[in-house]
Amino acid sequence: MTTHAPRVFSGMQPTGNLTLGNYLGALRNFVALQERDFERLYCVVDLHAITVAQDPATLARATREVAAAYIASGLDPERSIIFNQSRVSAHAELGWIFTCVARMGWLNRMTQFKEKAGKNRENASVGLFSYPTLMAADILAYRATHVPVGEDQKQHLELTRDIAAKFNNDFNVPDFFPLPEPLIQAETARIMSLRDGRNKMSKSDPSDMSRINLTDDADLIAQKIRKAKTDPEPLPSEAEGLAERPEALNLVGIYSALSGRSVADILAEYGGQGFGAFKPALAEMTVTKIAPIGEEMRRLMQSPDEIDAILADGAERAAALARPVLREVYETLGLTGGGSAR
Ligand code: TYM
Repeated sequence: MTTHAPRVFSGMQPTGNLTLGNYLGALRNFVALQERDFERLYCVVDLHAITVAQDPATLARATREVAAAYIASGLDPERSIIFNQSRVSAHAELGWIFTCVARMGWLNRMTQFKEKAGKNRENASVGLFSYPTLMAADILAYRATHVPVGEDQKQHLELTRDIAAKFNNDFNVPDFFPLPEPLIQAETARIMSLRDGRNKMSKSDPSDMSRINLTDDADLIAQKIRKAKTDPEPLPSEAEGLAERPEALNLVGIYSALSGRSVADILAEYGGQGFGAFKPALAEMTVTKIAPIGEEMRRLMQSPDEIDAILADGAERAAALARPVLREVYETLGLTGGGSAR
């Protein structure tokens, strides 16, 4: 049973170019949720970005660029609260408190830390290790009930639920925090690299040819799809035939997600044909859907003051929602004075 009003929270890191994976796995769903009966907060998580080294000017620009991507994709700053994390102090405050709720053992299991720290664990920042506790604070500062994300964030969401449950239990405040549900769109939960169908499409991949960036122009998008890795077989006529063919599966999946057509329908048309026939159709579909977003982002980026005004307004609305929650958290813990939320 939950007594919490339906509320959506999600975020993206301002680290490098956003990709088609970010768009299909998350951003497009942020926009779709505007048609549903939720209150919505969409954050640019700049405090998460500094868990690895960032050039300050680049970070400031990337933060505005993610906000521009949100708006260019169809988020309406009136209907959804758009802001960057560092403008609302509740995130950092609750993040610290959750660092004291979460257990070392829980964080030790996080696969994303293992991947990101690699062999250089001793030299990773403490923030990179405790990253998921800040993510839990992002969500729970607003008592958000639903979190649209791609597959790679599922484990962090499970940790968020564990933190919420432990807090509610330790301080004997049943249902104080909701246990938020991930909203993961199965078909687009993992968009894969164009160079290797077994790896996720990622902004941190050293090869730019492995991904479509939202800011790529039409020619570059078409070129990347033309050069995308494939196998020599023609496309199968039925979906089962894609099972052991990760690159073909990924490209057909992208076409399906962008066109709104089912995989069966696409294979009924292209089954038996080689990629020479399919790739131009995929390139055209991707250009039609993605290039206009990049164009709109470039236009918005010419008015950084307007973006900043949207972020400042969003932050004010977000802070007003977080303040009473934080005040209650401080009281619950016996921290007198209510912190910055007093
Ligand atoms: P980030 O910035 O890495 O990615 C943003 C969103 O894009 C999704 N995504 C993908 N989905 C499908 N296929 C892909 N190849 C792909 N690549 C990225 C991610 O799953 C994510 O939903 N920790 C988060 C940011 C965050 C957050 C939060 C999210 C911080 N606080 C609170 C939700 C709620 C992250 O690093 O996402």
